Amino acid sequence: MGRSRIVRQLTLISCMFLIAVSVFAQAQPGKSEYEPTPYQEGKDVVWVPTEQALTNKMLDLAKVTPQDYVIDLGSGDGRIVITAARQGARALGIEYNPDLVVLSKQNAIKAGVIDKAQFVEADLFESDFSQATVITMFLLPEINLKLRPKILDLKPGTRVVSNSFDMAEWKADQTINVKPEEGCNNTFCKAYLWIVPAKVEGSWSLPQGKLSIVQRFQRIFGEFQLREKTLPVVNGKINGDQISFTIGNKHYSGRVNGNTMQGIVKAAGKTSNWGANLIDNKHL
Ligand SMILES: C[S@@+](CC[C@H](N)C(=O)[O-])C[C@H]1O[C@@H](n2cnc3c(N)ncnc32)[C@H](O)[C@@H]1O
Repeated sequence: MGRSRIVRQLTLISCMFLIAVSVFAQAQPGKSEYEPTPYQEGKDVVWVPTEQALTNKMLDLAKVTPQDYVIDLGSGDGRIVITAARQGARALGIEYNPDLVVLSKQNAIKAGVIDKAQFVEADLFESDFSQATVITMFLLPEINLKLRPKILDLKPGTRVVSNSFDMAEWKADQTINVKPEEGCNNTFCKAYLWIVPAKVEGSWSLPQGKLSIVQRFQRIFGEFQLREKTLPVVNGKINGDQISFTIGNKHYSGRVNGNTMQGIVKAAGKTSNWGANLIDNKHL
């Protein structure tokens, strides 16, 4: 056997050995050598883990239950997904860095939640997260803004929680801070919650007249055309698929379901039902 053939065979055996070791390490919880370093490069955002105390509070803020499907955009070492799965929810982490995906799977195995916690290696901008009932993220203000239109297209009522970064003029429905004595000891101890509002901008017909709505995220404005009279819509709010507003002395509340709204109207101590149908969904 020639010397070069022996060298080729030894190289081949070494390669096979290295592949086997790496496959074994991936499959064995706790055997990974991979240890991410805070602030290491990521595709669009560096990796910094959310403190466990804030992770718990973020999921509390979103009122996560076993009925939820939680998706973490840029899931890092998997801690938010794993914590949600521990609470009984189905959860998915979308992470670009393949090493972090492997590490997350190992962490989920160790935590005993691999049946509920899934991880995919993908770019969050290329991913479909429309099935989520809860979105969690720890990205950057400009990334949140880039994602905002897609988030606003999610099902009304979807809860969105962001570690530390807001969504500009889409003001949060709730904000929390976790103090050092509660277990958060770094600069990222604040979380924002938004509830995706139903889209109601446009003209709606009611038996009594025409309601024209302008929507700014979870706030609504507009006017009600009642024969010759035009009355302003005040205190208009949308919370997921719930709508409420006041016209004159009448307080309307109800539920939006696509092209219809239904609910109750209270005026002068009396309560009655109301309903409206969408005529067109253009701006006023
Ligand atoms: C600040 S870390 C947050 C990690 C985790 N969500 C947490 O809160 O502990 C941001 C994560 O997003 C990942 N990331 C950055 N750009 C991404 C992209 N385009 N698609 C998917 N993941 C991305 C990074 O690799 C990093 O793990």
